[in-house]
Parts: sequence; structure tokens; C-alpha cells
Amino acid sequence: MTIKPIRKAVFPVAGLGTRFLPATKAMPKEMLTVVDKPLIQYAVEEALEAGIEQIIFVTGRGKGALEDHFDISFELETTMRARGKSLSVIENIRQQPGSPVYVRQQEPLGLGHAVWCAREIVGDEPFAVLLPDELMVGTPNFLAQMVAAYNEVGGNVIGALEVAPEDTDKYGIISPGARNGALTEVAALVEKPAKGSAPSNLMIPGRYILQPEVMQILDAKETGAGGEIQLTDAMAKLIGKQPFHGFTFNGERFDCGDKTGFIMANLALALDRADIGPAVRAFAKARVG
Ligand code: G1P
Repeated sequence: MTIKPIRKAVFPVAGLGTRFLPATKAMPKEMLTVVDKPLIQYAVEEALEAGIEQIIFVTGRGKGALEDHFDISFELETTMRARGKSLSVIENIRQQPGSPVYVRQQEPLGLGHAVWCAREIVGDEPFAVLLPDELMVGTPNFLAQMVAAYNEVGGNVIGALEVAPEDTDKYGIISPGARNGALTEVAALVEKPAKGSAPSNLMIPGRYILQPEVMQILDAKETGAGGEIQLTDAMAKLIGKQPFHGFTFNGERFDCGDKTGFIMANLALALDRADIGPAVRAFAKARVG
């Protein structure tokens, strides 16, 4: 088996973000900021650091701010330059001309459908998927750790993290086979199992390295949990045909699709910052005692 390198990453960013209304009424949820950076930028930086060469956004109506964020901001840059201000905080966001690539998901038919919308750009090679709601902090970063593992075992490698047993109905859940260090064989997958029926508490935290055959399975547009076309269901059909492993990340996860997780991410990352950390710490201590 030849192990092809992972060069492309798909970011499904068409979601409506109803959990964050009214903040996300006129602004993409991926532009919500943790300290001073939008969620999408954390995910894109994670991918670039992991060696990804092509960024693919699966976007939709009302998501123009994402495109602007990764573009040159002519007025801003010209003004900052004229005022002698450093452009370093915005220059590193910009991509090469012609990148990222944007494709549209016209209707919210599920994560599997969103990934499938990128099929022409992905083509016949393995690719990564990152869900920007899930903010991962670690060195090396989550995707970089997964790519290193993938380069050893090939096939499909998906994130695998333990959650509280009462939360398993919110996620894709792995039925685990043999474990070898950070890698766990995936015996089966189920999307949002009903309470009390989960095969384990090992959830899929929005990081995937997948073989292109998953796109052919998604072609069938079969629906699953919540009436949506689920990526988890399509991946499940690859088990037994291709190597399939879960990878447990050595680092910290913040579920920024949820208000509590989002506030925790802001607090944790603010406390770690040299510039604002001490003041935030003093405030937090005084506030909570
Ligand atoms: C999606 C996936 C699920 C995964 C989760 C991670 O669910 O379908 O398998 O565990 O992301 O955040 P969603 O949060 O879109 O309902």
C-alpha cells in the first residue's frame, strides 16, 4: 500500500450558527473570535502547520466575511503602512493568489453533503477535514499529530477523544477495537447514538484524514441521524475495506460550537497570553474568589 501525502484540507463553513444568535445573525459563526483571532483562522493555521497546501472552504450565502478575512485588505493595509504600523498581525493570514478555493453548499443537508460538495477539488487523493468549531490547542497541533500517524499506517485516521458518557448523543462515536498507543482501530461508527446506546465514550472531534473513496459513498446521498447526510455513516462503510484508525490527541479541546466551550476557550487562551494574561488572571481570581 502506498501512502499518498495529505495536501488538501476541507473546511465545512456553511453552517448557520443558530446556537450563537444574535451574534451570528449577520456574521459567520466561524468569525467568532477567541481572544483576537477568529475560529476559522485557528483551524487554517493548524492545517498549514500540518503541511496542508490547499485550503478548500465549503461555504454558503452570508459567509463573505470569511473570504475577505483571507484576502488582502487594501484600505486597511495602505492606511496602516502610511501610519508606520506593523502589518505582521494581518499579513500572515493572506493566502497565495488563487487560494483558498471556495465551493458552495447550496442547502444545509448535513456534514457529509458539505464534504461531498468539495469532491471535484479534492479529486483522487486523500484529504483532511477540519471543523473550525472545534478549537484544538497542542504542540504539535492536532492535525500535525494525525498526519504523522497517518504517514505510518495510511488509510483513514480520525480524531478520537473521550467525552463524558452523558454527552455521547451529541457526537459521532467510535466503537473501538485494538489500541496501540495513540491509535485505536475503528470497528464501527455511529452518529449521535441515542442515550444509553453508545458503543463507547470515544467521540469524533472534527478532525479527519480520509481516502477519496468516501466521496463515492457520499454520492448516494443516504440520510442518517437527524435526516442529514452524515459523514460518519459514509466513513463507516469504509471500515473493513481500508485501514481505519482513531487517533487520540495529546492536547486540549474546546468545543466552540457551544457557548460554555467558547467562553472557556477565551479564558484559557487569554490566561496563556503574555500581554493580557496577568490582568485577566487577576480579574478572574478577584471575581470567583
Ligand atoms: C459533527 C459530526 C460529529 C462530530 C461533531 C464534532 O456534528 O457529525 O460526528 O462528532 O461534528 O463536533 P455536529 O456538531 O455538526 O452536529
